[in-house]
Amino acid sequence: MPTLIADEKTQAMAEIRKLIEDPSFPNGWPNKETHIDHQIKWKDGVSKEYGVHGTAVGVDFDICIADGICITVCPVNVFDRMELPGEQEKMDKGVTNDSGKAPLATWKADPARENDCIFCRACEIQCPVQAIKITEP
Ligand code: F3S
Ligand code: F3S
Ligand code: ZN
Repeated sequence: MPTLIADEKTQAMAEIRKLIEDPSFPNGWPNKETHIDHQIKWKDGVSKEYGVHGTAVGVDFDICIADGICITVCPVNVFDRMELPGEQEKMDKGVTNDSGKAPLATWKADPARENDCIFCRACEIQCPVQAIKITEP
């Protein structure tokens, strides 16, 4: 039944770690590599596959479900849609992430222009899974 599916999805989301609630991000998260002009941060024991892109505008790719509202609401176009072809293959095979419940996505919101952020926090407030954490310098 559609209602049950929606309930299960809501429950799965509630159980997913939220980047915004992690006080150790960004300063306690080591840099792993550079992507475009931002860092990819990785914390052992927390990051699962992709880590967090961005520092001032941190997007946890392991949490992002490609909702897209961040792209829509950002007034200065910080985000790019970053396709992850490997995820489609996993979805086709019915693979889930470590929680066994979290929905996967075929793309993530990459903070490609985080230096343009004016810290309005619209993305952080509206992301349904709280995958974004904004940190003013
Ligand atoms: Fe845009 Fe989010 Fe910054 S909406 S301006 S990236 S706080
Ligand atoms: Fe992902 Fe949240 Fe944006 S789910 S696409 S970071 S609104
Ligand atoms: Zn990136």
